[in-house]
Amino acid sequence: TRIDWDVDLAEKGGYPDFMMKEIHEQPRVVRDTLAGRLTGGTLTIDELDLSHEELNLIDRVYVIACGTSYHAGLVAKQLIEGWARIPTEVEVASEFRYRNPIITPTTLVVAVSQSGETADTLAAIRDARVRGAKVFGITNVVGSPVARESDGVIYTKANKEIAVASTKSFLGQVVSLTLLSMLLAQTKGKLTTSQIKLLFKELADTAEQIETILSDTTAIDEAALACKDACSSLFIGRGLGSAICAEGALKLKEISYLHAESYPAGEMKHGPIALIDEGFPVVAVATQSPTYEKTISNLQESRARGAMVVAIATEGDTEIKKHAEHVIYIPKVRDCFSPITASVPLQLFARAIAVARGCDVDQPRNLAKSVTVE
Ligand code: G6P
Repeated sequence: TRIDWDVDLAEKGGYPDFMMKEIHEQPRVVRDTLAGRLTGGTLTIDELDLSHEELNLIDRVYVIACGTSYHAGLVAKQLIEGWARIPTEVEVASEFRYRNPIITPTTLVVAVSQSGETADTLAAIRDARVRGAKVFGITNVVGSPVARESDGVIYTKANKEIAVASTKSFLGQVVSLTLLSMLLAQTKGKLTTSQIKLLFKELADTAEQIETILSDTTAIDEAALACKDACSSLFIGRGLGSAICAEGALKLKEISYLHAESYPAGEMKHGPIALIDEGFPVVAVATQSPTYEKTISNLQESRARGAMVVAIATEGDTEIKKHAEHVIYIPKVRDCFSPITASVPLQLFARAIAVARGCDVDQPRNLAKSVTVE
């Protein structure tokens, strides 16, 4: 009935689907996640409930999660190792729980779960605690099993996420894990007060940068239309770009059923390059980073074999146009914050393809929002 339609539209805040609404909430998620975290150059995450001494003793980190949350973990590994210099492994919970990981009392396990009730992640938390690890939960649901069963919890400030494919929760996880990485570095004395202040400011600026990306999606929509009829696609990047590609490819296959595989760009020639023929979509995260030139070489190799390259690049990079059919520009950010900005165009790209293919964006077939059974 007409009334139902109105209610539906109101719930979606005027957006065509929940996924689009939730993508647009991301600047707020960044702001809410950072609110109150920095006082006079010192980061605080009181919810962690660990003393400075206990934090300082941590000498190994495992990030355990499933699905999209696992990809937030891939980002965290690079930040924790880069800043705090603590060896960090990321593992899908269903693997972690069935092996014999090396855990000591100075091991920190970070369990990331939007719903806070994923069966494998919960089992991994229980196992890690029995083995004597400290467990931090990062979840979006207050009072969820992950929150209850962890030693400390950081709540992502995404608010309820309705679309099955996670977008704003992922962003909240990445921002929370970025804060946690900075906190570990601060505790270990690896980042000075002035470095923390500067990084925090730039981290906060990503909210506005996401708004800029959301304000004009023409290039994203054009690239999506060009790729929509493909049977398969490849997402490539290096460093943090590779982590973001993993999430970009997952998003695309989840909601559009277009096969997408992500590879670290340097691995292309060890297999995936064999897939490339005329018009094959290669989506690349080629933002400014220490490995930018290397990624460009991979784009050249791809195009020489007929690939249709879609590049996510930094505003002002005109060089990239020589190497890509479609360039999606995003504002310039420090490489460590690129996961926050670069994941947004990939979300929009996946959604635009799903819409163009007539898929139900919010409720993809065979998938559930939370997976409470093994
Ligand atoms: C399901 C959802 C994904 C999610 C994954 C992990 O597969 O469809 O969007 O990433 O579970 O869920 P969690 O709630 O633990 O983050």
